[in-house]
Amino acid sequence: MTSFLRLAAYRLDDVTRDLLGKELIERVAEHTLDSDADEAILAGIGAHALSRYLPGEILRGIQIFCASGHHCLLLRNLPGQPFPDTPVSGFARESHLGVVNALHFGLVQLLGLVPYAVDYENDGRLMRNVVPNPAAAGITSSWGADAEFSWHTDNPHLPFGAAGMDPRPYIPRFLTFYAVRNEELVPTEVVALADIVATLDESTLHELRSAHFSAGAPASNDTGALREGGRLDRTALLESAGERGQEWARFDAGTTRGLNDRARAALAVWQNALDAAEGRQFVLESRDFLIFDNYRVLHRRRAFTPGPQAGARWLRRCYAS
Ligand SMILES: [Fe+2]
Repeated sequence: MTSFLRLAAYRLDDVTRDLLGKELIERVAEHTLDSDADEAILAGIGAHALSRYLPGEILRGIQIFCASGHHCLLLRNLPGQPFPDTPVSGFARESHLGVVNALHFGLVQLLGLVPYAVDYENDGRLMRNVVPNPAAAGITSSWGADAEFSWHTDNPHLPFGAAGMDPRPYIPRFLTFYAVRNEELVPTEVVALADIVATLDESTLHELRSAHFSAGAPASNDTGALREGGRLDRTALLESAGERGQEWARFDAGTTRGLNDRARAALAVWQNALDAAEGRQFVLESRDFLIFDNYRVLHRRRAFTPGPQAGARWLRRCYAS
């Protein structure tokens, strides 16, 4: 089946990877740079090194990604560094992850995006360690493993944002990931919204585009206080973006409700379409970077059995708008 999903994929050759890694190690060697307090410095170091060593085609692909209409970008075989054990409690010593933080923030800067955190999630920190935290067992959380994430967008209870604004009150436009390790080979799956829309009838689409829904904060938000008050009422599930005929979606099966019978019926049709959807699976390998458009794709992660804690799956995630 043809798909509307547009992916830009690149792989660094080993020589480029090693030169870039050496440069980054030299520049952040002192273990003093923190991912929150020193984000701008790390981004500057990373963007400088990347601009110097990436082949022109890859650098250009990163720089034009956001304007290109692509849904996701995958960059493989990036440099790594000596990694500590997977921080299954959720938080790592960020000053010891300077190389990958410089790389991650440098890529976000080259993408023309602003990395950000919100105070009600992840302790207000920029870098989310997506790890199987034993405390999150059975919970639908990026710190979980045994609970399934069905197709959703992150933070659907917020309004859609626009470039050039403070991103924090809005749905994150992009999710960025750097994979430290994924020996369990757990895929991150994305599906283009356009592929779902293409399967729906006009009356269902009309209803999904009407402000007849309520969207709550997802269970994966850490703070109960937000869950209590964080609900967007009388909103549409699909909104016209005003950008080249694009459409945006907000959806989380656990928290999105129809406010009348027609909306509930449309939601059921939408859910069936999602259940039947075949997305694109990315089995991220160590030192891969992935970014996707949280307005134009839905994503999911199946339940999995984590490996031993020290070497369990560990992705680094940062919101960027
Ligand atoms: Fe998510």
